[in-house]
Amino acid sequence: MINNKELIKSALEEIAKKSDLVESDYYRPRFHIAPRVGLINDPNGFVYYKGYYHLFYQWHPLDTKHGLKYWYHLRSKDLICWEEVGVGLAPEQWYESHGCYSGSAIEHNGEMVIFYTGNVKDKEGNRESYQCMAFSKNGTTIEKYADNPVIEKQPDGYTAHFRDPKVWKQGELWYMVLGAQTESLEGRVLLYNSDNLKAWKLVGVVSGSNINNNDDMGYMWECPDLFSLEDKDVLITCPQGMEPQGILYNNRYQAGYFVGSLNYATGAMNHGGFTELDRGFEFYAPQTCKDNLDRRVIYGWMGMPEEEEQPTKEHNWLHMLTLPRVLELKGDKLYQRVPEELKKLRKNSVLATNIKIKDDEKSLEGFYGDVYELCVDIEVEDAEEVGLKLRCSEDGEEYTMLSFFPKQKLFTVDRNKSGKALSGERSCKLKDNRRLKLQIFSDRSSLEVFINDGEEVFSLRVFPSLESKSMKFFSNGGTVKFNNIKFWEY
Ligand code: FRU
Repeated sequence: MINNKELIKSALEEIAKKSDLVESDYYRPRFHIAPRVGLINDPNGFVYYKGYYHLFYQWHPLDTKHGLKYWYHLRSKDLICWEEVGVGLAPEQWYESHGCYSGSAIEHNGEMVIFYTGNVKDKEGNRESYQCMAFSKNGTTIEKYADNPVIEKQPDGYTAHFRDPKVWKQGELWYMVLGAQTESLEGRVLLYNSDNLKAWKLVGVVSGSNINNNDDMGYMWECPDLFSLEDKDVLITCPQGMEPQGILYNNRYQAGYFVGSLNYATGAMNHGGFTELDRGFEFYAPQTCKDNLDRRVIYGWMGMPEEEEQPTKEHNWLHMLTLPRVLELKGDKLYQRVPEELKKLRKNSVLATNIKIKDDEKSLEGFYGDVYELCVDIEVEDAEEVGLKLRCSEDGEEYTMLSFFPKQKLFTVDRNKSGKALSGERSCKLKDNRRLKLQIFSDRSSLEVFINDGEEVFSLRVFPSLESKSMKFFSNGGTVKFNNIKFWEY
């Protein structure tokens, strides 16, 4: 250990110094994970271990921009109430001098075993990446492996953009996927295996840009995750450098998945096309874990690299995580739903039924707030556009608009009038055009919109005024029937 104590001390001092400022921010979420102070990015080390979900996050405690990364550690019995365990990993050793980058965790022989990337920059600013291991016997104190790194270098033909190990067991062996970049600057996911978690051997290339029937899919693939669901294999990855195609791939970087089957002997995956996991503006670097109920649960980072201009910086924190979501595979499509546990947060319900609206916009008594769940069941009838405005100001100038255009089967989220800092529109196609079911979570400065029982999700940050708490239901070019509108304060 070099200066572990100093590093942890400075992070804890930062929390102590800035906590009041952080917590006094109106935009601070009430039921999402956000950094104690500083910047949060990827969810890491998500594992169910000895009766608790453990979740770490990439953390830069000392500033609201990317910098020297730590892991901060939380645990929970129900995915809802998270208890702070404290600093999980601090960048104390030579092989992680410029940050403990993303990684995962598993349980083995009663211990929690963590894999992560040690990020190093030499004097000339050249990058080196080391894959490392750490252990915990009790789920609270974590010790780094004395013989780190377990993978010293990227394979020949690859650059040092080589990171984010995700580990699982299949049969007798352990497997690890890693995000990588070829020397000709193409994104890849690589597969390694091991029989003891310490000695790792390259198996092959799982997928990448311009291979496996993929088009050009960018220069780097980050944060891979690979698991089986319904007898198929799912590869999640985050390609950087994809070009937008109409309503697809409009974020700076993408987070999506392939479904197919992995050849564990060669590493190659035979898969279909790439699908974005989330249709909103802020969703990146997700990670899954299989829990004790056999569910595949995913958390995403509700942020985007290199997008740091948000008002919460004034209060010394930046970004947050999404809600947990349970993944289900139907055909080759992933559906995402919030876990049942979330219902525990429901308070003070309001219900409205059979509300018909024709070329009009209506507010409804009791539907008002900034921290809530809202479920809406819509029958389109003959309207050309139906929708909702959320977080509306009294003068009608500020709002976030959700619209559905039945003829085009197009759903759009518009945050051009949502408030400070952020703007733009995102859209996706839906299967059905007669019915629309929405489940919406609002948490001060975030919105997550689940459509048709998890067919699509939009995650986004918004920074409206604290007075903007009304909501409106509307139709254009015909009639719509809101069969059921349910609201709960959270
Ligand atoms: C994704 C990422 C990872 C890396 C980490 C560093 O957001 O760039 O690839 O490990 O963030 O914080």
